[in-house]
Amino acid sequence: MNPTPHIKTEGTSKFQIGEIRDNVIHYDFEKIKTYLNIKGHLLFGKNFKIYKEDEPLIFKLCCYYIQDHYSCAQMGIDTNKGILLTGPVGCGKTSLMKLLLHLAPHKTSYEIIPTRNIVFSFNSSGFETLEQYNQSKNYCFDDLGVEPKGSHYGKDLNVLGEILLSRYDLFTRHPQIIENRSLSEVEVKANSQQPITNNHSKTHITTNLNAQEIEKRYGNRVRSRLRAMFNLISFSQNSIDKRT
Ligand SMILES: Nc1ncnc2c1ncn2[C@@H]1O[C@H](COP(=O)(O)OP(=O)(O)OP(=O)(O)O)[C@@H](O)[C@H]1O
Ligand SMILES: [Mg+2]
Repeated sequence: MNPTPHIKTEGTSKFQIGEIRDNVIHYDFEKIKTYLNIKGHLLFGKNFKIYKEDEPLIFKLCCYYIQDHYSCAQMGIDTNKGILLTGPVGCGKTSLMKLLLHLAPHKTSYEIIPTRNIVFSFNSSGFETLEQYNQSKNYCFDDLGVEPKGSHYGKDLNVLGEILLSRYDLFTRHPQIIENRSLSEVEVKANSQQPITNNHSKTHITTNLNAQEIEKRYGNRVRSRLRAMFNLISFSQNSIDKRT
């Protein structure tokens, strides 16, 4: 275990993004921004920057990634659910999901998979592809809605629709003690409006689709589970395309 997760090392430089007081890390958003700017440069090139207009959204995401339960609750974010990050083409959804993985990997981590690749894999290998995602592991399905139709030996399948339904089942199965909560499981159950969730089967999504479009493409069974599984975080419809 990393004893200093609040100190990030890039090459020979160190970035302190918070302080430890009473055994608790107190993160500092200004320092986090500095770190994200530098890490963004390293990952995506010299044009990367944290846009002023994106800061409120990035702040929300940072609170989620460091699993700051208190700030998240104030903003209506449930730290047990995944993130559904929506926004127009090129606004920076995929880059952010890649970048923020580096912020607090001891708290929030997942594998990013382009949805297109999942369908290509289904089309060539069939149903074993679905099994792969029916595991207690965190995934980010990148660019939901752009994938082609699934078809394996003439059998058509709404691949991502099926995977999302099974991810929901996984998410609501295996009740377990949720990290950083002192309540017993029974108390959590009694106090919760939501199903008790498994901390290790979170699903995250990036997409250009809105809820109606998701329903049209994946069906109402998927749509009705979205609220239980995800925190909806949206870039403004006016966000600029950062692909220049
Ligand atoms: N904050 C940023 N500063 C500068 N460039 C950025 C920033 N965010 C993203 N980019 C660049 O803009 C392009 C689009 O970013 P990205 O792929 O993350 O967008 P997206 O919202 O996922 O797009 P799409 O909807 O097409 O999937 C990339 O080339 C990326 O490097
Ligand atoms: Mg993308």
